Amino acid sequence: MEQNIQEVLLTEEQIKNRIAELGRILTEEYRDKNPVVIGVLKGVVLFYADMVREIKTSCQMEFMRISSYEGTDSTGKIIIRQDVSSDIQGRHVLILEDIFDTGNTLSFVYQHLLEKKPASVKICTLLDKPSRRKPGVTLQADYVGFTIPNYFVVGYGLDYNEYYRNLPYIGILKPEAYT
Ligand code: IMP
Ligand code: MG
Repeated sequence: MEQNIQEVLLTEEQIKNRIAELGRILTEEYRDKNPVVIGVLKGVVLFYADMVREIKTSCQMEFMRISSYEGTDSTGKIIIRQDVSSDIQGRHVLILEDIFDTGNTLSFVYQHLLEKKPASVKICTLLDKPSRRKPGVTLQADYVGFTIPNYFVVGYGLDYNEYYRNLPYIGILKPEAYT
């Protein structure tokens, strides 16, 4: 597995320190707001587990699972495999996501959750690749762990063909590992 990693982009320690910083900010932001923290599976799983432990105020945990299919027109049709299981109307919602890439997924999830009439919706993404954003996507993340260049990265929840999610750091995959 690790022989296919060209370079470690973010070490375990860098990730841990950044999550602690975000935790201090989010704890203040959500104190006494009893937020619903919604994770977008599966890529978010490690970030989610570490992030919620740094949000030191009462919150509830929910998950969504979505699939995306790249159409020929590259609109990227998205299907909800699993929706949140509780009523979020009037609640403060914090979306956690692994990576904000083209923006297809987060735009869809954001709109979908807004329709449930929450009191607020904010987005916290571990990684942001702004250079990949699709034209027309105006949505922005409220909290970003790391802004990264246009590399295909794996580890810490992020996969290539469902592998590498269990690496404890974020690495750049060797191009030959794609082919
Ligand atoms: P979107 O293009 O913003 O909709 O990103 C959709 C999904 O693509 C993310 O939630 C990730 O699961 C996946 N993705 C995007 N960039 C990468 C990457 O560099 N490595 C692994 N998965 C990625
Ligand atoms: Mg993925």
